[in-house]
Amino acid sequence: MYTEKVMDHFMNPRNVGEIENADGVGEVGNAKCGDIMKIFIKVEDERIVDVKFKTFGCGAAIASSSVATEMIKGKTIDEALAITNKMVIEALGGLPDVKIHCSVLAEEALRSAIEDYRKNHMQKS
Ligand code: FES
Ligand code: FES
Repeated sequence: MYTEKVMDHFMNPRNVGEIENADGVGEVGNAKCGDIMKIFIKVEDERIVDVKFKTFGCGAAIASSSVATEMIKGKTIDEALAITNKMVIEALGGLPDVKIHCSVLAEEALRSAIEDYRKNHMQKS
């Protein structure tokens, strides 16, 4: 039911962990299944220079967050905000219908980390 790409990111997830003193942290929960995803970003000059994630959830959620972190690393904040769950699914070579919400979780966690960064950044300056 899963593509090779999904299995690869599930078995060998990229960018797993936490960033100490992250510039933005996003945490979202999925109401449908109770899974939780946390994304940490480090930002320099409006560019995401580092990103890590922790996901307590299913294989598709782990694969989605793994591929999403790869997609946003090195991107500007605006470029990262343009990433949608559809793009995450495409990057994974597809997801089963019942697992679409797992990719939505990745998009939401990403946005929430960026919102958090923007909030912190405004307070500092
Ligand atoms: Fe089973 Fe998310 S519903 S791991
Ligand atoms: Fe809930 Fe995947 S995130 S089943």
